[in-house]
Amino acid sequence: MHIVLVGMMASGKSSMGKVLSKSMNIPFLDIDKEIEFHEKSSIKSIFENDGEKYFRKLERKIIIENLEKKKTTVIALGGGAFLNAAVRKKVNEKSVSVWLDVNMATIIRRLKKNRNRPLIENKSDEDIKKIYEKRLKYYEMAKIHIDCNKKTKIECVEELISQLKSIGINESN
Ligand code: S3P
Repeated sequence: MHIVLVGMMASGKSSMGKVLSKSMNIPFLDIDKEIEFHEKSSIKSIFENDGEKYFRKLERKIIIENLEKKKTTVIALGGGAFLNAAVRKKVNEKSVSVWLDVNMATIIRRLKKNRNRPLIENKSDEDIKKIYEKRLKYYEMAKIHIDCNKKTKIECVEELISQLKSIGINESN
């Protein structure tokens, strides 16, 4: 049973995923990094050269392939991946999904520091708010919700570990 982290851009999926992976002694996989490795290109260049449609197809393929692997892994999805029904279906089959719930003001503040993400380049706060609102209903479909507001990264991970334990998912030995 994998542990799959979902949530908006800049919600901390990669950074918390790494901490979770260390704490639970389970390997970590970042899907964006896998895509970049596969294409030998950055996410930004893939969007620019091949378009979002191409990226989404590849993203879906790489997620599904990795979910099929046996070895339990902590997997961080890109912020848009869980909107895809085929991805959600496979995630539900093969993993426990976790939504890192971070409020919009925090997301916008964090994204201001790093506008390198192709989807939000040249986007206003209002545009980002629209993306966030459109996505909420999908993120809410995750099995575990972690309210990451007013918590440190470590506190979020601790809460996640305790919720995972309560459903019988423990660290690997
Ligand atoms: C995207 C989020 C990014 C990356 C791509 C598209 C999105 O990942 O997959 O830029 O649609 O939200 P992060 O959530 O890690 O920023």
